[in-house]
Amino acid sequence: KDNVAVGLLGVGVVGSGVINLIEKHQEKLAHQLGCGVHVKSALVRNLDKQRDTGADMNGTMLTTDPDAVLGDPEIDVVVEVMGGIDEAREVILKAFKAKKHVVTANKDLVALHGGELHEAAERNKCDFYYEASVAGGIPILRGITDGFASDHIEQLMGIVNGTTNYIMTKMNQEGLSYEAALQEAQERGFAEADPASDVEGLDAARKMAILARLAFSTYIDLEDVEVTGIKDIDIADLQYSDSLGFTMKLIGFANFDGTQVEVNVQPVLISKQHPLADVKNEYNAVYVYGEAIGEAMFYGAGAGSMPTASAVISDVVTVIKNMHRGVTGGQFVEPRFKKRLKSDEQ
Ligand code: HSE
Repeated sequence: KDNVAVGLLGVGVVGSGVINLIEKHQEKLAHQLGCGVHVKSALVRNLDKQRDTGADMNGTMLTTDPDAVLGDPEIDVVVEVMGGIDEAREVILKAFKAKKHVVTANKDLVALHGGELHEAAERNKCDFYYEASVAGGIPILRGITDGFASDHIEQLMGIVNGTTNYIMTKMNQEGLSYEAALQEAQERGFAEADPASDVEGLDAARKMAILARLAFSTYIDLEDVEVTGIKDIDIADLQYSDSLGFTMKLIGFANFDGTQVEVNVQPVLISKQHPLADVKNEYNAVYVYGEAIGEAMFYGAGAGSMPTASAVISDVVTVIKNMHRGVTGGQFVEPRFKKRLKSDEQ
Protein backbone atom coordinates (compact mmCIF):
# COMPACT_ATOMS: atom_id res chain seq x y z
CA LYS A 1 0.00 0.00 0.00
CA ASP A 2 1.23 3.51 -0.80
CA ASN A 3 -0.51 5.06 2.13
CA VAL A 4 -1.66 3.06 5.15
CA ALA A 5 -4.93 4.29 6.66
CA VAL A 6 -5.25 4.37 10.44
CA GLY A 7 -8.58 4.58 12.26
CA LEU A 8 -8.57 6.36 15.60
CA LEU A 9 -10.95 5.58 18.45
CA GLY A 10 -11.00 8.67 20.67
CA VAL A 11 -9.68 12.16 20.03
CA GLY A 12 -8.80 13.35 23.52
CA VAL A 13 -5.41 14.40 24.80
CA VAL A 14 -3.60 11.37 23.34
CA GLY A 15 -5.71 11.06 20.16
CA SER A 16 -5.07 14.64 19.07
CA GLY A 17 -1.37 14.11 19.81
CA VAL A 18 -1.44 11.09 17.46
CA ILE A 19 -3.03 13.12 14.64
CA ASN A 20 -0.54 15.97 15.09
CA LEU A 21 2.60 13.86 15.41
CA ILE A 22 1.78 11.68 12.40
CA GLU A 23 1.23 14.82 10.33
CA LYS A 24 4.38 16.49 11.64
CA HIS A 25 6.62 13.49 10.91
CA GLN A 26 5.18 12.44 7.56
CA GLU A 27 8.56 12.54 5.88
CA LYS A 28 10.44 10.59 8.55
CA LEU A 29 7.69 7.97 8.71
CA ALA A 30 7.62 7.61 4.92
CA HIS A 31 11.40 7.17 4.93
CA GLN A 32 11.24 4.44 7.59
CA LEU A 33 8.24 2.65 6.16
CA GLY A 34 8.55 3.16 2.44
CA CYS A 35 4.91 4.29 2.40
CA GLY A 36 2.72 7.04 3.75
CA VAL A 37 0.57 6.80 6.86
CA HIS A 38 -2.46 8.91 7.68
CA VAL A 39 -5.30 8.98 10.18
CA LYS A 40 -8.29 8.51 7.92
CA SER A 41 -11.13 8.69 10.40
CA ALA A 42 -11.68 9.09 14.11
CA LEU A 43 -14.44 8.10 16.46
CA VAL A 44 -15.55 10.86 18.83
CA ARG A 45 -18.36 11.07 21.35
CA ASN A 46 -19.48 14.54 20.40
CA LEU A 47 -18.80 16.16 17.03
CA ASP A 48 -19.51 19.67 18.31
CA LYS A 49 -17.10 19.36 21.21
CA GLN A 50 -14.29 18.35 18.87
CA ARG A 51 -14.81 21.44 16.73
CA ASP A 52 -14.86 23.60 19.86
CA THR A 53 -11.31 22.62 20.78
CA GLY A 54 -10.16 24.15 17.50
CA ALA A 55 -7.73 21.24 17.12
CA ASP A 56 -6.41 20.82 13.60
CA MET A 57 -7.68 17.44 12.45
CA ASN A 58 -5.41 17.45 9.37
CA GLY A 59 -8.11 16.03 7.12
CA THR A 60 -9.19 13.25 9.51
CA MET A 61 -12.90 12.55 9.16
CA LEU A 62 -14.71 12.64 12.51
CA THR A 63 -17.59 10.30 13.21
CA THR A 64 -19.72 9.17 16.15
CA ASP A 65 -20.34 5.76 14.53
CA PRO A 66 -17.76 3.07 15.49
CA ASP A 67 -18.70 1.08 12.37
CA ALA A 68 -17.60 3.94 10.15
CA VAL A 69 -14.08 3.22 11.42
CA LEU A 70 -14.21 -0.53 12.08
CA GLY A 71 -16.15 -1.32 8.90
CA ASP A 72 -13.92 0.72 6.58
CA PRO A 73 -12.04 -1.77 4.37
CA GLU A 74 -9.30 0.79 3.69
CA ILE A 75 -8.35 0.96 7.36
CA ASP A 76 -5.72 -1.60 8.43
CA VAL A 77 -4.73 -0.29 11.84
CA VAL A 78 -7.05 0.80 14.62
CA VAL A 79 -5.69 2.94 17.47
CA GLU A 80 -7.76 2.86 20.66
CA VAL A 81 -7.22 5.90 22.86
CA MET A 82 -10.76 6.39 24.11
CA GLY A 83 -10.05 4.90 27.55
CA GLY A 84 -12.49 3.11 29.83
CA ILE A 85 -12.80 -0.64 29.98
CA ASP A 86 -16.00 -2.27 28.74
CA GLU A 87 -16.66 -0.16 25.66
CA ALA A 88 -12.99 -0.18 24.68
CA ARG A 89 -12.87 -3.98 25.06
CA GLU A 90 -15.91 -4.38 22.83
CA VAL A 91 -14.64 -2.15 20.05
CA ILE A 92 -11.22 -3.79 20.09
CA LEU A 93 -12.76 -7.28 19.86
CA LYS A 94 -14.85 -5.98 16.98
CA ALA A 95 -11.76 -4.53 15.31
CA PHE A 96 -10.01 -7.93 15.49
CA LYS A 97 -13.08 -9.61 13.98
CA ALA A 98 -12.85 -7.09 11.14
CA LYS A 99 -9.16 -8.15 10.76
CA LYS A 100 -7.72 -4.84 11.86
CA HIS A 101 -4.46 -4.62 13.77
CA VAL A 102 -4.89 -2.83 17.08
CA VAL A 103 -2.70 -0.45 19.04
CA THR A 104 -3.89 0.79 22.43
CA ALA A 105 -2.68 3.04 25.23
CA ASN A 106 -5.22 1.57 27.62
CA LYS A 107 -3.38 0.12 30.64
CA ASP A 108 -6.58 -0.62 32.58
CA LEU A 109 -7.90 -2.69 29.73
CA VAL A 110 -4.63 -4.53 29.02
CA ALA A 111 -4.10 -5.28 32.72
CA LEU A 112 -7.60 -6.70 33.08
CA HIS A 113 -8.33 -8.29 29.70
CA GLY A 114 -4.90 -8.62 28.06
CA GLY A 115 -5.14 -12.41 27.79
CA GLU A 116 -8.52 -12.39 26.09
CA LEU A 117 -7.47 -9.62 23.68
CA HIS A 118 -4.27 -11.42 22.75
CA GLU A 119 -6.21 -14.58 22.00
CA ALA A 120 -8.64 -12.66 19.82
CA ALA A 121 -5.73 -11.01 18.00
CA GLU A 122 -4.05 -14.34 17.40
CA ARG A 123 -7.27 -16.01 16.24
CA ASN A 124 -7.76 -13.30 13.65
CA LYS A 125 -4.06 -13.13 12.71
CA CYS A 126 -3.81 -9.55 13.84
CA ASP A 127 -1.21 -7.53 15.71
CA PHE A 128 -1.86 -6.19 19.20
CA TYR A 129 0.57 -3.66 20.71
CA TYR A 130 0.35 -1.39 23.76
CA GLU A 131 3.67 0.36 24.35
CA ALA A 132 1.93 3.53 25.60
CA SER A 133 0.09 1.65 28.34
CA VAL A 134 3.09 1.65 30.70
CA ALA A 135 5.25 4.70 31.46
CA GLY A 136 3.92 6.84 28.59
CA GLY A 137 6.69 7.86 26.25
CA ILE A 138 9.37 5.53 27.64
CA PRO A 139 9.87 2.56 25.28
CA ILE A 140 9.88 0.17 28.21
CA LEU A 141 7.82 -2.71 26.81
CA ARG A 142 10.06 -2.85 23.75
CA GLY A 143 13.04 -2.46 26.03
CA ILE A 144 11.97 -5.46 28.04
CA THR A 145 10.88 -7.75 25.24
CA ASP A 146 13.45 -6.88 22.56
CA GLY A 147 16.28 -5.43 24.63
CA PHE A 148 16.36 -8.35 27.04
CA ALA A 149 15.50 -11.00 24.46
CA SER A 150 18.57 -13.06 25.29
CA ASP A 151 18.79 -12.14 28.93
CA HIS A 152 17.05 -13.34 32.05
CA ILE A 153 15.37 -10.48 33.90
CA GLU A 154 15.66 -11.09 37.61
CA GLN A 155 14.08 -7.97 38.93
CA LEU A 156 12.13 -4.87 37.98
CA MET A 157 11.60 -1.82 40.14
CA GLY A 158 9.45 0.96 38.79
CA ILE A 159 8.18 4.40 39.57
CA VAL A 160 5.30 4.04 37.16
CA ASN A 161 2.75 6.48 38.56
CA GLY A 162 3.52 10.14 37.98
CA THR A 163 0.79 11.48 40.24
CA THR A 164 2.04 9.80 43.41
CA ASN A 165 5.66 10.56 42.59
CA TYR A 166 4.69 14.21 42.10
CA ILE A 167 2.77 14.31 45.38
CA MET A 168 5.59 12.71 47.36
CA THR A 169 8.24 14.95 45.78
CA LYS A 170 6.26 18.12 46.49
CA MET A 171 5.44 17.09 50.06
CA ASN A 172 9.04 16.25 50.78
CA GLN A 173 10.81 19.09 49.01
CA GLU A 174 8.35 21.96 49.26
CA GLY A 175 6.40 20.98 52.34
CA LEU A 176 3.15 20.99 50.38
CA SER A 177 0.20 19.21 51.98
CA TYR A 178 -1.01 15.95 50.45
CA GLU A 179 -4.24 17.64 49.28
CA ALA A 180 -2.48 20.63 47.72
CA ALA A 181 0.03 18.41 45.92
CA LEU A 182 -2.75 16.16 44.59
CA GLN A 183 -4.66 19.17 43.36
CA GLU A 184 -1.58 20.40 41.49
CA ALA A 185 -1.20 16.96 39.88
CA GLN A 186 -4.83 17.13 38.80
CA GLU A 187 -4.43 20.63 37.40
CA ARG A 188 -1.35 19.56 35.47
CA GLY A 189 -3.41 16.81 33.87
CA PHE A 190 -1.67 13.55 34.75
CA ALA A 191 -3.89 12.36 37.62
CA GLU A 192 -6.54 9.83 36.60
CA ALA A 193 -10.16 11.05 36.28
CA ASP A 194 -10.67 9.39 39.66
CA PRO A 195 -7.33 9.96 41.42
CA ALA A 196 -8.16 7.19 43.90
CA SER A 197 -6.57 4.73 41.47
CA ASP A 198 -3.36 6.77 41.54
CA VAL A 199 -3.07 7.29 45.29
CA GLU A 200 -4.27 3.80 46.23
CA GLY A 201 -1.61 2.29 43.99
CA LEU A 202 -3.99 0.58 41.57
CA ASP A 203 -2.73 2.44 38.50
CA ALA A 204 0.84 1.39 39.34
CA ALA A 205 -0.34 -2.18 40.02
CA ARG A 206 -1.91 -2.39 36.56
CA LYS A 207 1.30 -1.23 34.95
CA MET A 208 3.41 -3.63 37.05
CA ALA A 209 1.19 -6.55 36.05
CA ILE A 210 1.78 -5.73 32.38
CA LEU A 211 5.54 -5.29 32.92
CA ALA A 212 5.87 -8.51 34.90
CA ARG A 213 4.01 -10.55 32.28
CA LEU A 214 6.38 -9.39 29.57
CA ALA A 215 9.52 -9.56 31.67
CA PHE A 216 8.91 -13.04 33.06
CA SER A 217 6.80 -14.66 30.31
CA THR A 218 4.15 -15.65 32.74
CA TYR A 219 0.57 -14.60 33.20
CA ILE A 220 0.18 -12.20 36.10
CA ASP A 221 -3.36 -11.20 37.03
CA LEU A 222 -4.08 -7.91 38.65
CA GLU A 223 -5.20 -9.72 41.80
CA ASP A 224 -1.73 -11.24 42.06
CA VAL A 225 -0.26 -7.81 42.73
CA GLU A 226 -0.17 -6.77 46.38
CA VAL A 227 -0.88 -3.07 46.70
CA THR A 228 -0.43 -0.38 49.34
CA GLY A 229 -1.03 3.24 48.34
CA ILE A 230 0.32 6.52 49.70
CA LYS A 231 -2.74 7.88 51.47
CA ASP A 232 -1.47 7.21 54.97
CA ILE A 233 1.92 8.79 54.49
CA ASP A 234 2.47 12.09 56.16
CA ILE A 235 4.92 14.81 55.58
CA ALA A 236 6.88 14.02 58.75
CA ASP A 237 7.58 10.46 57.51
CA LEU A 238 8.91 11.80 54.24
CA GLN A 239 11.06 14.49 55.76
CA TYR A 240 12.43 12.28 58.54
CA SER A 241 13.45 9.59 56.01
CA ASP A 242 15.05 12.29 53.93
CA SER A 243 17.15 13.46 56.85
CA LEU A 244 18.42 9.89 57.32
CA GLY A 245 19.59 9.63 53.70
CA PHE A 246 16.54 7.86 52.29
CA THR A 247 13.81 8.87 49.88
CA MET A 248 10.34 7.42 50.14
CA LYS A 249 8.90 6.41 46.77
CA LEU A 250 5.90 4.42 45.61
CA ILE A 251 7.77 1.51 44.06
CA GLY A 252 6.40 -1.26 41.90
CA PHE A 253 8.51 -4.33 42.46
CA ALA A 254 8.57 -7.53 40.42
CA ASN A 255 10.88 -10.39 41.07
CA PHE A 256 11.31 -13.80 39.47
CA ASP A 257 13.72 -16.24 41.07
CA GLY A 258 13.38 -18.87 38.36
CA THR A 259 10.36 -20.57 39.87
CA GLN A 260 8.25 -17.98 41.65
CA VAL A 261 7.00 -14.56 40.81
CA GLU A 262 6.36 -11.78 43.28
CA VAL A 263 4.78 -8.47 42.28
CA ASN A 264 3.85 -5.66 44.61
CA VAL A 265 3.40 -1.91 44.84
CA GLN A 266 4.14 -0.09 48.07
CA PRO A 267 5.81 2.98 49.55
CA VAL A 268 9.44 2.06 50.06
CA LEU A 269 12.43 3.80 51.59
CA ILE A 270 15.26 3.77 49.11
CA SER A 271 18.78 4.99 49.62
CA LYS A 272 19.53 8.33 48.01
CA GLN A 273 22.38 6.54 46.20
CA HIS A 274 19.91 4.41 44.23
CA PRO A 275 19.20 5.75 40.72
CA LEU A 276 15.44 5.67 41.40
CA ALA A 277 15.87 8.20 44.23
CA ASP A 278 16.59 10.93 41.68
CA VAL A 279 13.35 10.39 39.79
CA LYS A 280 11.35 13.43 40.81
CA ASN A 281 8.01 15.08 40.21
CA GLU A 282 5.81 13.38 37.62
CA TYR A 283 8.66 11.50 35.97
CA ASN A 284 8.62 7.73 35.63
CA ALA A 285 11.49 5.26 35.61
CA VAL A 286 11.90 1.53 35.41
CA TYR A 287 15.01 -0.09 36.81
CA VAL A 288 15.74 -3.53 35.38
CA TYR A 289 18.26 -6.06 36.56
CA GLY A 290 19.20 -8.63 33.94
CA GLU A 291 21.55 -11.54 34.48
CA ALA A 292 23.59 -10.63 31.41
CA ILE A 293 23.12 -6.86 31.17
CA GLY A 294 23.24 -6.09 34.88
CA GLU A 295 21.63 -2.80 35.82
CA ALA A 296 19.67 -0.71 33.33
CA MET A 297 17.29 2.15 33.90
CA PHE A 298 14.69 3.65 31.60
CA TYR A 299 13.65 7.19 32.53
CA GLY A 300 11.27 9.74 31.08
CA ALA A 301 7.80 11.19 30.83
CA GLY A 302 5.11 8.77 31.96
CA ALA A 303 2.13 10.71 30.68
CA GLY A 304 1.10 13.64 28.51
CA SER A 305 -0.22 14.10 25.02
CA MET A 306 3.00 14.03 22.99
CA PRO A 307 5.01 11.40 24.92
CA THR A 308 2.06 9.01 24.95
CA ALA A 309 1.20 9.73 21.30
CA SER A 310 4.80 9.08 20.36
CA ALA A 311 4.67 5.61 21.98
CA VAL A 312 1.37 4.88 20.20
CA ILE A 313 2.88 5.81 16.84
CA SER A 314 5.94 3.65 17.50
CA ASP A 315 3.51 0.72 17.72
CA VAL A 316 1.77 1.80 14.50
CA VAL A 317 5.18 1.79 12.83
CA THR A 318 5.87 -1.74 14.10
CA VAL A 319 2.49 -2.92 12.85
CA ILE A 320 3.09 -1.46 9.39
CA LYS A 321 6.54 -3.05 9.24
CA ASN A 322 4.97 -6.38 10.18
CA MET A 323 2.35 -5.90 7.47
CA HIS A 324 5.09 -5.34 4.90
CA ARG A 325 6.89 -8.47 6.04
CA GLY A 326 3.67 -10.45 6.01
CA VAL A 327 3.99 -11.42 9.69
CA THR A 328 1.90 -10.75 12.73
CA GLY A 329 3.26 -10.25 16.16
CA GLY A 330 2.31 -8.39 19.26
CA GLN A 331 3.70 -7.27 22.52
CA PHE A 332 2.92 -10.55 24.17
CA VAL A 333 5.46 -13.25 24.68
CA GLU A 334 3.89 -16.70 24.93
CA PRO A 335 3.95 -17.69 28.62
CA ARG A 336 6.86 -20.02 29.21
CA PHE A 337 6.18 -20.45 32.88
CA LYS A 338 3.17 -21.59 34.75
CA LYS A 339 2.36 -18.99 37.31
CA ARG A 340 3.83 -19.72 40.74
CA LEU A 341 3.40 -16.92 43.19
CA LYS A 342 5.44 -16.38 46.27
CA SER A 343 2.26 -15.37 48.12
CA ASP A 344 0.71 -18.82 47.40
CA GLU A 345 3.13 -20.37 49.83
CA GLN A 346 1.95 -18.51 52.89
N1 HSE B 1 -2.36 8.80 36.22
C1 HSE B 1 -1.21 8.29 35.55
C2 HSE B 1 0.03 8.73 36.29
C3 HSE B 1 -1.21 8.74 34.12
O1 HSE B 1 -0.08 9.60 37.16
O2 HSE B 1 1.10 8.22 36.03
C4 HSE B 1 -0.31 7.96 33.21
O3 HSE B 1 -0.64 6.61 33.13
